[in-house]
Amino acid sequence: MPVTAIIGAQWGDEGKGKIVDFLSEKADVVVRAAGGANAGHTIIIGKDKTVFHLIPSGIMREGTLNVMGNGMVIDPIVLIEELDKLEKKGITVGPERLAISRRAHVIMDYHKALDKADMIKDYERRVEHLSEKGVEIGTTGRGIGPCYADKASRTGIRMADFIDNTARLELLKKNLAVKNVLLKHFGQEEMTAEELDERCRGRAERLKPFVVDTGVLLEQQKGKNILIEGAQGTMLDIDHGTYPYVTSSNPTVGGDMIGVGISRIDKVVGIFKAYTTRVGGGPLPTELHGDEGEKLRQPGGEYGATTGRPRRCGWFDGVVARHTMRVNGYTEVMVTKLDVLDGFETIKVCTAYELDGERIEHFPSRAEDAMKCKPVYEELPGWKQDITGVRKLKHLPKAARNYISYLEKLIGAKISLISVGPSREQTIEK
Ligand code: GDP
Ligand code: IMO
Ligand code: MG
Repeated sequence: MPVTAIIGAQWGDEGKGKIVDFLSEKADVVVRAAGGANAGHTIIIGKDKTVFHLIPSGIMREGTLNVMGNGMVIDPIVLIEELDKLEKKGITVGPERLAISRRAHVIMDYHKALDKADMIKDYERRVEHLSEKGVEIGTTGRGIGPCYADKASRTGIRMADFIDNTARLELLKKNLAVKNVLLKHFGQEEMTAEELDERCRGRAERLKPFVVDTGVLLEQQKGKNILIEGAQGTMLDIDHGTYPYVTSSNPTVGGDMIGVGISRIDKVVGIFKAYTTRVGGGPLPTELHGDEGEKLRQPGGEYGATTGRPRRCGWFDGVVARHTMRVNGYTEVMVTKLDVLDGFETIKVCTAYELDGERIEHFPSRAEDAMKCKPVYEELPGWKQDITGVRKLKHLPKAARNYISYLEKLIGAKISLISVGPSREQTIEK
């Protein structure tokens, strides 16, 4: 069974949704392995724009089976909203098109309340002495961290229990005894198990037909083309990212294996933006501030697909590329948003950092050190030409082709696809 993993190679929002939609023409199954509604994957087909937070982007292709893997944390409210939105677009999604893992964890109202509450800030106040500026993580507020924390503490509620009325109420009673202490501490409203259970009942009924053992289901798909849709990005990985300024899952190739429950991945595809962005706090060594940053933010439309926050923007970071290549072992790479660089006279690429007067070529393991890194740049000529209509590599301006070759060498993998606009057809296959 040929399995291809699509991995965010930077800090998320690399355009994974667009790429998965494009590639799913040839896929039979599209699976999400990790994360939850913190993801925002944008798909543009003609004039129609859809942003998915939970449902795999393959759902836009008739005939694909879409799977929400055991590694995900699923908010039933958001999922039902997405199903309703698809229904309005005339796409009816039944269990033959969407499967939800019985092992996936469920985001409850208290996870979101605790995520939005002072929990993180409180933590940061406590470790302020560690942090240069006491920067906030700035989560998406979707309950991701608290839900994964429960998973690790073995107090989470999984889909199989969520759709079982007896098990759900029992678990809610047990959990709320502790959660209410926390909610009170953070100045949030307390909840009763009965009330919360009542709110969950209808949602559980609606989702029940989709909930299966996805491991067994995928085993039955032998010989089919399976695409794993990455969420977030490698620099947000809880182990390999800029801890603690990370998400709470492993959006890397190892996380894919665990989050789907498979033992083999044939192709690992890293998705890179032609420059760098990040939403939320934490180190971003190539960040451009003020007007400089706007020069990328405006043409790139760099505002979060989930929270609407302006994304922080900067030049392509080769140190990050080297780091995420090592973690994931890309067998090939795809580059998105090359068109956003159309207006630049010259384009900078970071090849190393300077930390405390020393040149380093590897990404530091401490966020505090990464925050102090100064990028060492090389400058390449721009092409000053609109490339959004280009469909063949040979028709790209020479400077754009040079930029692509330069990135291939820097990353250490072949670039197999270049995206020059948000639509399906604005794609160059090499
Ligand atoms: P994801 O989270 O990795 O799926 O990416 P997002 O959807 O959050 O953000 C990518 C944004 O860039 C979306 O608004 C896409 O429509 C847009 N996009 C994707 N590829 C391209 C491209 O090649 N050029 C331009 N200009 N926009 C793109
Ligand atoms: P996609 O799949 C960009 C960031 C948040 C925050 C940090 C922790 O669209 O690429 P969380 O809510 O996960 O606890 O927030 O991670 N973050 C993302 N940034 N794209 C994403 O997903 C993200 N998912 C989480 O902004 O800094
Ligand atoms: Mg996104």
